[in-house]
Amino acid sequence: TCALPISMKETKIRSIDGTEKDIPVLKEAGQIIRAGGLVVFPTETVYGIGANGLDADACRSIYTAKGRPSDNPLILTVPGKEEAKAAASYVPALAEKLMDIFWPGPLTLVLPRKAVVPDAATGGLDTVALRCPAHAGCRAFLRAAAVPVAGPSANLSGRPSPTTAAEAARDMGGRVDMILDGGACDVGVESTIVEVLEDEVVILRPGAVTEEMLAAVTPRVTVDKTLITGTGVPKAPGMKYRHYAPNAPMQVFVGRTEAVAAAIERETLRLRKGGGRVGYLVSTETADLLQTADAPTFVWGRHGDKKELARNLYTGLLFFDTAPADYILAEGVAAGDIGTAVMNRMKKAAAGAVVDV
Ligand code: TXA
Ligand code: MG
Repeated sequence: TCALPISMKETKIRSIDGTEKDIPVLKEAGQIIRAGGLVVFPTETVYGIGANGLDADACRSIYTAKGRPSDNPLILTVPGKEEAKAAASYVPALAEKLMDIFWPGPLTLVLPRKAVVPDAATGGLDTVALRCPAHAGCRAFLRAAAVPVAGPSANLSGRPSPTTAAEAARDMGGRVDMILDGGACDVGVESTIVEVLEDEVVILRPGAVTEEMLAAVTPRVTVDKTLITGTGVPKAPGMKYRHYAPNAPMQVFVGRTEAVAAAIERETLRLRKGGGRVGYLVSTETADLLQTADAPTFVWGRHGDKKELARNLYTGLLFFDTAPADYILAEGVAAGDIGTAVMNRMKKAAAGAVVDV
């Protein structure tokens, strides 16, 4: 997916576990960032690929490593409110309140940017997206870096985001200087992104911080129209691309397990008649109901357990990198809670092919 020629680097892979052993590793990671290099790092949502967010050349090298379109801005990852304020030219009281309540955690705030943030980080926008992760290893890394870390997800552009260091290494091995292995990500889908206006919050990308949670803080929460209609130009430029895509076309079925299993069986027959090989991404309960033999199957967890699906979604999509399937038949979850974020990603991964059964 990356057409640009890139020179291969030697990638060091280092585990961090929150003990003193991490100190020399994190010190080296911080030096790499300040010297303009690239470090893959864990967060509670997905793994990120980090560079010095104040260094335009370092930011540009992220685009090269990911094969990312240059109009798609980077998130700046910071350890706290003070560092966020150093990058934003104006912080409405509402934004400050959201930081106090949801930081550190999976909420990214879009605010007007200060001039210190280079165009190379914001894709030329006059705003900057700021994220303060909760993952302890990530926080230690950010303190060691001592600069805001531009940190998009550590996948090649368009691919599913990595939720383990091994998955990040698959896409980024040879393209970055270091990978910090902080274990499997707890949330599994990317942070909620909101634009914060004077007294209104606009959701640009759904995540673990839900509309309901935001509505408990401020009465005016809206959702970017393009997220709902699927048409128009989204305010988060990254949301316009085909994204999170596995290696085979995917269809998603949402409903009761019996109905999902029946729909998957019907579709299996149809696709196999045409000579296609099918694979399944389904719940334990639906897997038990499926009669079809020899379809490569990734069981993501219990039916309707939204947190578990969120955690396993991308690993499930990546399973089909190597599984022999021409088509993926997947089970979705109902909207609400983190289900809204899961279905937003599944819909994109399936290029819109989601049906309620
Ligand atoms: O959970 C996360 O947010 C992960 C972890 C690694 O922190 N990061 C992440 O970054 O998902 P990325 O680059 O894969 O997604 C960032 C999204 C893109 O859709 C981008 O277009 C949008 O944020 N974005 C960045 N800056 C923006 C801005 N100033 N205004 C609107 N959208 C922005
Ligand atoms: Mg991404």
